[in-house]
Amino acid sequence: MRRVEVGGAAPYAVEVGPGLLTRLAVPETPSALIHPADLPAAWVEQAQASLQPHLTVTVPARDECKTLEVFADVLSQLAQAGLPRSGAVVGLGGGAATDLAGFVAASYLRGVAFYTAPTTLLGMVDAAVGGKTGVNLPEGKNLVGAFWPPRAVWCDTATLTTLPDAVFREGAAEAFKHGLMADPSLLDRVVSPDFRPGGALLEDTLADAIAVKAGVVTRDLTEQGERAFLNFGHTLAHALEAVTHQAIPHGEAVAYGMHYAARLSHALGGADLTAHTRAFLRWQRPRRLPPLTFDALAPFIARDKKADSAGVRFVLLRDLAQPYLARVPDDVLRREFDGWQADLAELFPL
Ligand code: GLY
Repeated sequence: MRRVEVGGAAPYAVEVGPGLLTRLAVPETPSALIHPADLPAAWVEQAQASLQPHLTVTVPARDECKTLEVFADVLSQLAQAGLPRSGAVVGLGGGAATDLAGFVAASYLRGVAFYTAPTTLLGMVDAAVGGKTGVNLPEGKNLVGAFWPPRAVWCDTATLTTLPDAVFREGAAEAFKHGLMADPSLLDRVVSPDFRPGGALLEDTLADAIAVKAGVVTRDLTEQGERAFLNFGHTLAHALEAVTHQAIPHGEAVAYGMHYAARLSHALGGADLTAHTRAFLRWQRPRRLPPLTFDALAPFIARDKKADSAGVRFVLLRDLAQPYLARVPDDVLRREFDGWQADLAELFPL
């Protein structure tokens, strides 16, 4: 069992290890458990048995739950059940369900205690830590939400055993990203055969990847500065997700995006880190992208949250663990896009 501390104004601990769902406990009472419909019944039953929630709310699977309609429906269910301000909301499931549950906790009665038990690798390494909660709008992802940090995070590694292999590999992209931006010791470990559910390297690698994010959000919860570095690879990733109407899952889009960002970093004078991002793509085996042109992606790249009136800023790396933000000239973006496509054709021949 590993424990990672998150500091700041409201510190909390992230526990990492097997069997945590069998001993969930919160001081607030009563509690409401929120989980997605596709979560294996065993994990819901374990959480219910240990937490003894006053009510359990089932929400649609994946991003289907991250809507204002589902948000309103869950709030109504809590109100009808009479959950008081002294109660707690516990989010169990992948990043979408825990993002929704956190926003419900942030909003219901102007805020109640929030706890989270992520059950996917992506949820554990990224979504559960740092207090970003919210839902999507038809106009874009995560456009409504609140910073509402949890009071504890329980990463029960046993839940990863029921994740499809491709979903585990997808989630590993964020752990690999934490390696590139802050802890290079993660790079070899994340692509090792022992980094798998039940594997010898799982718990320590996962805890060390979480520790990178814990450090960043301890220093910069509301993204005034270094939290933006967590978006390494995400500018192209968000554009790929948008242009494919989310057919490319987030972690796979991030793997593609990290390789592009590594190329841009090198083009602007940084170290050549593309061997790392190539190795990760080879290991992850993301689904193939449809034929894409830079011009089709450019409007989505321009919408990036790190854009300001002077243009889009990319998170780049001077070297391993040396991230910075930079505006990249349009001709470099285009040239490296062509190089990126050539690299992908070589990595994944037809
Ligand atoms: N997923 C990026 C962040 O939490 O800031």
